[in-house]
Amino acid sequence: MNTVIIYASTHHGNTKKIVEKIAEVLSADLVDITKNKNPDITAYDVIGFGSGIYFHSMHKSIQEFISRAAFSAHQKIFLVDTCGVGYKDYTKGIKKVLKEKKIECLGSFQCRGFDTYGIFGKFGGIAKGHPDDNDYVKAENFAKTLMQGR
Ligand SMILES: Cc1cc2nc3c(=O)[nH]c(=O)nc-3n(C[C@H](O)[C@H](O)[C@H](O)COP(=O)(O)O)c2cc1C
Repeated sequence: MNTVIIYASTHHGNTKKIVEKIAEVLSADLVDITKNKNPDITAYDVIGFGSGIYFHSMHKSIQEFISRAAFSAHQKIFLVDTCGVGYKDYTKGIKKVLKEKKIECLGSFQCRGFDTYGIFGKFGGIAKGHPDDNDYVKAENFAKTLMQGR
């Protein structure tokens, strides 16, 4: 299964670290959508989208890409995000869009990532040290479950 992970990781590179681990397990290609706004997904069976959470949502470029992309019927999606607070599933909105587009979502992975945005920065940030080794193991296990579904 040809897999690509399209990601945006603009705050501290937290999500990049996680998607790199997942890509290793899945032998997936990686595309930074902030550098390539229009990646060609036609060659892929599975497309992962990874993003930090910015104001309760995935990066605008990811949201916009998912909204406008013409996915093929056989293509499946998974979602990955890192967030500072992590009290809820921040991918719910995107999952709703995918459902409306009748695109199958294989699952989602979320963990915390070092956050120095706004007031948190004044106190040295939150989720310090994340993603950590435990987060990496969980991300790799998530990737392995995706492999089993192939
Ligand atoms: C502009 C901005 C807005 C953010 N908004 C949220 C938020 O709504 N909820 C949350 O849990 N974390 C929020 N964060 C924290 C990031 O989601 C977190 O640090 C994440 O790991 C960043 O990923 P990245 O380093 O890959 O960009 C925000 C960070 C920034 C810079």
